[in-house]
Amino acid sequence: MKKKSFTILISLLVICTIAFASEKTENTQTNEKKERIQNIEKNEKYPFFPSLINTKDGQPTTPDQFEDPIVCSGCHSEIYNQWKGSMHSNAFVDPIFTALWKVGAKETNGLTDKLCGGCHSAVGVISNDLVFKDNEFQTSDIAKEGVHCDLCHTVTRSSFKDTPTNEPQNASLVLDPGNIKRGPYKDSVSPHHETEYSDLHTKSEFCANCHQVYHPINNFHIERTYDEWKFSVYAQKGIQCQDCHMMPIEKAIEAARTLTRPVNPGKPCIMGPERDNMFTHEFVGANFTVPALLNAEKHAGIAVERLKSAAELEISTEQTFKSGVIATLAVKVTNVGAGHNLPTSLTEVRQMWLDIKVTDQNGNIVFTSGDLDDEGNIKEGSIIFNAHGVDKDGHHTIKPWEITRFEYNKTIPPKGSATEKFAMMIPPDLAGILDIKAVLRYRSYPQAVANFLLGEGTPTLPVVDMTQKSIKVEIEKQ
Ligand code: HEC
Ligand code: HEC
Ligand code: HEC
Ligand code: HEC
Ligand code: HEC
Repeated sequence: MKKKSFTILISLLVICTIAFASEKTENTQTNEKKERIQNIEKNEKYPFFPSLINTKDGQPTTPDQFEDPIVCSGCHSEIYNQWKGSMHSNAFVDPIFTALWKVGAKETNGLTDKLCGGCHSAVGVISNDLVFKDNEFQTSDIAKEGVHCDLCHTVTRSSFKDTPTNEPQNASLVLDPGNIKRGPYKDSVSPHHETEYSDLHTKSEFCANCHQVYHPINNFHIERTYDEWKFSVYAQKGIQCQDCHMMPIEKAIEAARTLTRPVNPGKPCIMGPERDNMFTHEFVGANFTVPALLNAEKHAGIAVERLKSAAELEISTEQTFKSGVIATLAVKVTNVGAGHNLPTSLTEVRQMWLDIKVTDQNGNIVFTSGDLDDEGNIKEGSIIFNAHGVDKDGHHTIKPWEITRFEYNKTIPPKGSATEKFAMMIPPDLAGILDIKAVLRYRSYPQAVANFLLGEGTPTLPVVDMTQKSIKVEIEKQ
């Protein structure tokens, strides 16, 4: 009896020590985090930390220093109509983004407010008027325009040399709002504003400042589209982000195919000259779900076309299958059209997967992979191309502020490919021809993530079939 209670006491002590120790590690970790953040804050290079956005003199701006896009539309009507409905114009109102931003505000005690805001609603951050109140982010009207004309065209430089990794990231842009609009021309004249040539605007290094997301809380690079591009054949050939995302879709597809820069003659201003080259402003990537939700049908349509141009499939098997024996098939997915990995960016959320169906002559299914279950989730064991984010304890999470590493990051590099193998038993009594069909499918979010962010009544998410391939194989009777 005595011995037993002694054991219990010891066990309790051990448990307490473990609990205390783990609390201590947690505290040390939080302190380390705070210290890391303070260290960067202390160097005074980034007054709007944890966003790395800044102004020329480091002082906050006021919203009225920025002109509303509607003003620009008076003369740049075509460009305005392209931009309106883009994910840039919706970067603040995007319901998927705002839902996650709000969760972050609560779970990090406001630490992510400016971090996320710096890219999705920069004017709110540099005007110091972004407030989280009554479960809503409130800011000026111009900040709600997201990534807008005057934001991009008053950028004077990137401060990438001062960032923690000396790479463009977390909105490392320096703004100089006012009358000078910076752009790609050396000889333009406008009655409304001054103009200035900016080499930065003609390069991927401009986009890079926002298309590289680094989470200072865990020191983790979560989105790296620019890095993926930088070490690709596209960068070697001088093909910039602008050549695919600021060009009509047919020209972007041609640029990817031929590895040459496209040109697009046009008139960027109703009162200006005809130009040899002009860049369009739809900024379409792969997101077709949110544009459709926000009635930007044109943008949603281009996103679908872009997805359908991104990949190719090849199926290979033995010449014939034998009944009663295990047969294998290999499906090769090649990234032919994206200037970065496929998928890219928010890879911990996006889903691109292989749907394989093998049917006999009577239409009976012999093998299948990549089906959706009744809840709309992709069935276990399917081949999905994306990243698996985990928190410090190794638990799966999609919350950017919790992710400490990717357990895997299964994406396909530019012009690269991935080969996936499938094995299936050919029933002993089966004869005739088998039909093998592979479809590469894409959706913006797992159904469960959409349900979590958008709440009850979230409709079933649409899926795009990016590309497909079929072959027929004869079964040899054993
Ligand atoms: C460095 C700039 C940057 C920062 C900082 C940033 N984002 Fe983003 N965010 C982007 C870009 C660029 C995209 C578009 C990429 C894509 O579509 O895959 C994006 C897309 C998203 C999306 C997907 C929206 C959709 O409609 O599918 C969500 C959700 C999101 N961000 C949430 C956040 C949250 C929450 C934070 C802060 C914890 C944050 N972002 C911080 C640049 C940033
Ligand atoms: C009254 C008409 C008018 C308005 C309003 C106007 N612009 Fe312009 N803008 C022009 C003209 C004209 C040009 C020269 C076009 C050319 O040379 O091809 C121009 C050129 C530009 C350029 C190219 C600069 C370069 O050198 O590369 C940018 C960028 C630009 N405008 C941005 C804006 C923005 C942003 C707004 C709204 C805040 C705006 N414009 C409002 C008339 C206007
Ligand atoms: C995400 C940043 C971004 C936003 C938002 C943006 N632009 Fe641009 N714009 C650019 C870049 C980058 C270029 C130059 C592309 C190049 O030359 O490679 C450009 C080029 C231009 C030009 C020169 C002609 C051309 O099309 O090449 C004009 C004029 C212009 N933009 C006006 C506008 C107006 C008006 C708006 C809002 C309706 C707007 N921009 C929104 C980044 C932006
Ligand atoms: C000030 C920050 C900023 C700059 C600069 C910027 N972007 Fe973005 N971009 C964003 C954010 C934020 C989003 C995501 C909005 C969302 O999904 O809610 C986005 C979305 C996009 C998308 C749509 C992604 C999708 O899922 O379909 C494309 C394409 C894109 N940007 C291309 C570019 C290109 C090309 C440039 C450079 C010419 C550029 N961006 C410069 C912040 C920026
Ligand atoms: C050769 C053409 C090409 C180039 C160059 C290119 N892209 Fe893309 N991009 C695509 C295609 C095709 C897609 C759609 C498939 C996908 O999601 O990768 C895409 C998708 C995207 C998306 C949407 C991802 C999502 O999850 O919704 C973003 C953001 C993006 N690109 C940004 C960039 C940036 C930033 C650069 C430059 C660093 C760039 N792209 C260079 C072709 C290109």
